[in-house]
Amino acid sequence: MERALASLVDGLPLPALLIGPQARIDAANSGITELLGEGMAGRHYMTVLRQPGLLDAVEECVTSGARRETRYLGNDGSSDTTYRVHCSPVEMIGGKGVLVTFNDITHLEQASQIRRDFVANVSHELRSPLTALMGFIETLQGPARGDPAAAARFLGIMQREAARMERLVRDLLSLSRVEAQQRVRPSTQVNLSELAQSVIHALSPLAGQSNVRLDLHVPEAMVVLPGDADQLRQVMTNLIENAIKYGGPGKVVEIRLESAPHEPLLRAPAALLRVKDHGAGFDPVHIPRLTERFYRVDNHRSREMGGTGLGLAIVKHILNRHRGRLRVTSEPGKGSEFCAILPM
Ligand SMILES: Nc1ncnc2c1ncn2[C@@H]1O[C@H](COP(=O)(O)OP(=O)(O)OP(=O)(O)O)[C@@H](O)[C@H]1O
Ligand SMILES: [Mg+2]
Repeated sequence: MERALASLVDGLPLPALLIGPQARIDAANSGITELLGEGMAGRHYMTVLRQPGLLDAVEECVTSGARRETRYLGNDGSSDTTYRVHCSPVEMIGGKGVLVTFNDITHLEQASQIRRDFVANVSHELRSPLTALMGFIETLQGPARGDPAAAARFLGIMQREAARMERLVRDLLSLSRVEAQQRVRPSTQVNLSELAQSVIHALSPLAGQSNVRLDLHVPEAMVVLPGDADQLRQVMTNLIENAIKYGGPGKVVEIRLESAPHEPLLRAPAALLRVKDHGAGFDPVHIPRLTERFYRVDNHRSREMGGTGLGLAIVKHILNRHRGRLRVTSEPGKGSEFCAILPM
């Protein structure tokens, strides 16, 4: 009977151990020794399980004869882990035992944390323009009533704040659309050379206002690859717009389209779109976080420029969908280069 229980524990797909009627570990499978270490067989469960919440759950399970659920916080050597632990009463020879199983829910916990952070960020981003709008409405209804000069000025600010909210909502929708399509590989053929020309054309008024020259270099042969034209336009627009915004006035932005017969990063033939500016650049420590939602190197400056901080997050999702990559290099004082790499 006890041997049967031990082999049952062995066969469980989750880390599990069995506490016998003498409060000792009667059986432990390989999953649990990986989690808690070797040599627990025969020891008192208190010396093995150690965490107070878990010990309470085991005790309650024994005294009440009912199932108990709790959490176990571990560390796999590089990061914290969370387990959902079930304690179930088991009838054994000589009394009651407890079967303890561990279910790794670290990823679920992380996902819900990310979701909570995202909602908090969105609310925060929407709140400041909304607060400004409400303040100006109150002023227009009260102190500034009948003052056309003040009204005109406040309406101008209100328009800017409303436009900011509109941009944020548009970027959020765009992000969720891209995420929804993440697993659908694009199949239509897109001519990147033509697309680049058209994006440059569309951005030339913005470049003009900022006194930035856009220099486009495309190879003689057309660069064509399977892709989603609208999304690739978004990638180019985001990268070039950033280079214009953060490169600064009076500078040149170089846009270079290249095709490589063998791209080492993708281990395949690829198209490269390099967007290089000569702005202030940034410390490379920021590079791994740039594509996070709402991450900005310089919060104040980005907001002043009307940025939502979602542009590069959208770029990353689109490149993922195309099985491509984003390579960023930057040096403070020298400028940055954002290179989108797409398999052909
Ligand atoms: N070419 C660049 N030079 C310097 N910093 C850059 C450059 N491109 C991006 N960044 C930094 O990365 C941050 C994130 O860029 P991202 O495009 O995601 O957001 P944004 O430009 O602020 O807003 P949005 O693109 O949504 O309007 C920016 O806020 C900026 O700090
Ligand atoms: Mg941007």
